[in-house]
Amino acid sequence: MKERLKEIEIQALSEIDAASTRQALEVIRAKYLSRKGVLSRLYKELGSVDEQDRPAIGQGINRLKAIFEQDIAQRLHELSAKTGPAESEAFDITMPGIYPDIGKKHPITKTIDDICGVFSRMGFAIIEGPEIETEFNNFEALNIPLDHPSRDTFDTFYLDTENFETDPQKRRLLRSHTSPVQIRYMQKHKPPFSIAVPGKVFRPDATDASHSFMFHQIEGLVVGDGINFANLKWALFEFARQYFGESTKARFRPHFFPFTEPSAEVDVSCIICQGQGCRVCSQSGWLEILGAGMVDPNVFKEVNIDAEKYSGFAFGMGVERIAMLKYGIDDIRLFYENDLRFLRQF
Ligand code: DAH
Repeated sequence: MKERLKEIEIQALSEIDAASTRQALEVIRAKYLSRKGVLSRLYKELGSVDEQDRPAIGQGINRLKAIFEQDIAQRLHELSAKTGPAESEAFDITMPGIYPDIGKKHPITKTIDDICGVFSRMGFAIIEGPEIETEFNNFEALNIPLDHPSRDTFDTFYLDTENFETDPQKRRLLRSHTSPVQIRYMQKHKPPFSIAVPGKVFRPDATDASHSFMFHQIEGLVVGDGINFANLKWALFEFARQYFGESTKARFRPHFFPFTEPSAEVDVSCIICQGQGCRVCSQSGWLEILGAGMVDPNVFKEVNIDAEKYSGFAFGMGVERIAMLKYGIDDIRLFYENDLRFLRQF
């Protein structure tokens, strides 16, 4: 066995020495050092070597392995010094670069940023409020008394249901709309002001293509001396034009909200068919995009703003709905599934 090791050593070293290309060296490396190579086979034969000789032979094989590795590396170095780097290592200036995987905004974030951008340029401050609210801010202060029929439309996630709190100022819930931020803001700030408030809202709706238990809204509130319905109309028509496009038309339809009087729903001309009538707008040519109105004096009373002196308008819109219309998305669940094939398109 000892003689065989010596022979292998001489043979391998002369082969390494004679190798004139990298490919040749790779062949030699495979022949001696690979998993099925000469040295591996020697290790396997160790078992049949006399027990007292085994350690010395084992060390001998280890030594060959180290020498071969070192010699091959050395020879490789000499070859590249002579011939320059192998073709496979040369820098190919025509090769496309590796694109870093840069992230993008989620379509909901993008929609919020774009909408708030329009209002921000009109002079609105962008404000946020908490997702956990008091029953008082979410309903009472907005002129929605406990027994009011509109309460039924705001099915709500109440918190602390084990420890039922009866005081609406203390009872907590997940806000069902962004309107309570109106209350928070007016409690702390004196008019005049204009704010836009994006955020998450929660309603225990069964999930389907157009409903989700969590979605996003953007609230607007403008309060000052002499703010009137014409100001509301201008702000919202201008928003529709800037966000949906120059030729977009808008209209008001009378509606009811407890916290505004008078109230309206606002439609824009269908952005899919340009008002001609299609499946998306149910052949009407119009799409409902938000609710709005003049702030009800009862709301001002709750926050100690003098309704004789000041007036204001408010509006609220659903972000998912607007994003779905703008980008032609037909299922709200796509926003929340984190499917990169969907997200990469924005
Ligand atoms: N909070 C209403 C909702 O969630 C939307 C809304 C309507 C907000 C009219 C307003 C408003 O500020 O004036 O359905």
